[in-house]
Amino acid sequence: MSTKKSFPLLANNPDTIYLDSAATSQKPQSVLNAELEHYLNCNAPTGRSLYPMANAATEALNQAREEIARFIGAENTASVVFTSGTTMSTNTVAFAWARKNLKAGDKILTTIMEHHANIVPWQILSEDIGTILDFVHLDNNALLDLTEMENKLSVGDVKLVCVGHVSSVTATLNPVKKIIALAKKYGAKILVDGAQSTGHIPIDVNDLNPDFYACSGHKMLGPMGTGILFVHPDRFNEIGTMFTGGDMISKVTPTEPWFKPLPTKLEAGTQNVSGFIGLAEAARWLNNYPDGLIGVERYIKSLGTYAWQELAQIPNILLLGPGPGDSCSSSLVSFTFNHPACPNRKKIDDMILGEKLGEQNICVRSGIFCTEPLFSHQLNLKGATRASFHIYNTKEDIDQLVQAIQKIIN
Ligand SMILES: Cc1ncc(COP(=O)(O)O)c(C=O)c1O
Repeated sequence: MSTKKSFPLLANNPDTIYLDSAATSQKPQSVLNAELEHYLNCNAPTGRSLYPMANAATEALNQAREEIARFIGAENTASVVFTSGTTMSTNTVAFAWARKNLKAGDKILTTIMEHHANIVPWQILSEDIGTILDFVHLDNNALLDLTEMENKLSVGDVKLVCVGHVSSVTATLNPVKKIIALAKKYGAKILVDGAQSTGHIPIDVNDLNPDFYACSGHKMLGPMGTGILFVHPDRFNEIGTMFTGGDMISKVTPTEPWFKPLPTKLEAGTQNVSGFIGLAEAARWLNNYPDGLIGVERYIKSLGTYAWQELAQIPNILLLGPGPGDSCSSSLVSFTFNHPACPNRKKIDDMILGEKLGEQNICVRSGIFCTEPLFSHQLNLKGATRASFHIYNTKEDIDQLVQAIQKIIN
């Protein structure tokens, strides 16, 4: 079912083929309406002033949090911290939780397929407090090597596992429920990076039971500058602060602050209220899609599977990832012609390919997608080109992509 007409940017630009949703998604009219409605009728500070419009704004933000809690399966709204995106969510775990609860010599285990947002904070933390960062690698099918993961966990010094739910390069769908259970078996806490899963497949943190789950609102049809950090109630008493200042404080003397409980403790300063109201509307939009998130997942998977099959027909193309099946979300396909087996590899550099597709109004991402360790230390490639999908894409979009690539390489 094509839903392009519900997305004003796509309806207003019918010649644009948007295949960059892994970076940020387009937004439906109802999300834009929710934001505008807030500014037209209810724009006031939240959690502070006591006049009726400010109370209404506070109530609207509370309702948005309740909607998001339901959307990800969180039982407690205090578990839902509003952030600006996955980057802020992972950094919050690093600097508000890990900095306070880990010590020199403690191991943090991440994977080579992670986005920089799930690697660099752990590198900085290692510099700051002496934690040790280690990686799990991929097997030949672009799947996480769970034997390596268990071997590393079984040593007993891993205190935190940081793993992506879906890879932004290979679309690998990691068995996070199994990984969470494995981390817990060996006494480690676990953060899941859900940037590429939330809004594409059903997420139930109550069932998965991670310590932390990070996601990007702006990749799940919500406004720019919105994200979520789920914090499990078992971690509430351990978590410190990230940014400090107004609103997150219950009392301050000239020498000492006292903090409010979660989620306010991690939401210092004036918030992106209209953004989170828009985000709640995005959650409603996805839930109202036929069959809800199961329907969304089914549709996106059908597009990704089709894209993989069609792209695979192009001579000398290298497709990255396990390919369609249970271990692949199929929400994106990354490919390159710049690999050793391609005869004219230099001619079709990924950046040039991305630019040339752009000239034909086909919006893809080229480069290393903020996953340099994966490219340099696992795939041995200089980069790739990525077509990524959301609910508004169609098979015709993919046909146009394939035809355009054929024209460029010939
Ligand atoms: C897997 C993954 N993690 C983290 C991020 C960063 O997300 P944000 O831009 O919302 O901070 C991205 C963005 O592409 C991603 O794909």
